[in-house]
Amino acid sequence: MTAKRLSERTRQLLPSSTQVLDAKVKELIAQGADVVNLGIGEPDFDTLPDAREGGVTAIREGFTRYTATAGIAPLRQAIAGWLGTQRGLDYRSDEIVVSNGAKQGLFNSLMALVDPGDEVIIQAPYWVSYPEMIKLAGGVPVIIETCAETGFKMKPEMVASRLTSRTRAIILNSPSNPTGVVYGREELTELAQLAVEHQLAVISDEIYDHLVYEDIEFVAFASLGPQVRELTVTVNGFSKTCAMTGWRIGYAAAPRWLAAAMTDVQAHTTSAASSISQRAALAALVRPQPLLEKMRLEFDARRRMTVARLAGIPGISLEVVPRGAFYLFANVAGLFGVNEDGQPIENSDRLARLLLEEAGVAVVPGSAFGAPNHVRISYATSLEQLESGMDRLLRFAHAHQPVSASTIRSG
Ligand SMILES: Cc1ncc(COP(=O)(O)O)c(C=O)c1O
Repeated sequence: MTAKRLSERTRQLLPSSTQVLDAKVKELIAQGADVVNLGIGEPDFDTLPDAREGGVTAIREGFTRYTATAGIAPLRQAIAGWLGTQRGLDYRSDEIVVSNGAKQGLFNSLMALVDPGDEVIIQAPYWVSYPEMIKLAGGVPVIIETCAETGFKMKPEMVASRLTSRTRAIILNSPSNPTGVVYGREELTELAQLAVEHQLAVISDEIYDHLVYEDIEFVAFASLGPQVRELTVTVNGFSKTCAMTGWRIGYAAAPRWLAAAMTDVQAHTTSAASSISQRAALAALVRPQPLLEKMRLEFDARRRMTVARLAGIPGISLEVVPRGAFYLFANVAGLFGVNEDGQPIENSDRLARLLLEEAGVAVVPGSAFGAPNHVRISYATSLEQLESGMDRLLRFAHAHQPVSASTIRSG
């Protein structure tokens, strides 16, 4: 019996609900089910041709062995150069750690920074993996609830009121998964001042940096001054921007002492990212990629269409119009209650289940992101699929208008 005992830290771990849903929906679709998948967290575009070619060339050349843990020198140089020219960030290549996706960059940074019992501040709605990663690293997630009234953003005073002697770091994610919210320069500057004043590390997850719309300025947190840079780990990668989710290639940029520690963590866990994927990423960086702008514009067209369609669906409200990433975070509490047929919907988990089973639309319930009255709708799918998804959502909403909110049955 004892041989089957899981560690305490693993028992505390919640499964990744987005990955569970993704697997279920992909299986349903493979079985021939008619499902519009608005639950996805990855672009539907093909990987950039240059990157694909770079990967193929690496295989042909036999570039298939271990590389240095922190990544091949030309890639680290290219990333440092790109961060400099595109983001105004001043990193040397020995401050770049290439990892197996941005996810590993985040995890490396938490492992390098957090001692048991240290507190790490995140906001809700949060990306599903932040609380679990913090716990895996031995830390304690301190969750700051944000709401539509604050634009789903943390204000400095909200952070200040949660600081303790154990606060070690803040995780920022702009543009955000799941809300699509983008922090402005002034808002980030205020948070940066707080971080400098209290010497907090800031892990800035900038994986959606390229996907901002309506002339919104993306601001890299570490670009806000030399003192801020010294406290910041910039996490980014190729998954979302270059449609490379399956290649598993991301990176972190951090002051040298921290980058070295993160490299050590990675050396003893997974070693370097795939040599082939590194060459693919390098190929995407060495010359301009006009396709990136094409994809961004396509995402924007989808965003505008979906925002407009959602406005006409009773019971669903988009309180904050997203201006980044490829998600909409809609309040669905207007559909909670019991409809004419006596069918209850008591929360977004139930709603998402019914939507999938009755209407053939997959969305992610907000409970996964610490916001149980909402669902996340991804527009990383074609306009036709989105139109069809919105039609289905509309029919579902009409059929599920609550006639009574007070007699909700459980189950
Ligand atoms: C906010 C955020 N950070 C990090 C990641 C992980 O990126 P990668 O696939 O490069 O590990 C994701 C992927 O969904 C994400 O949404």
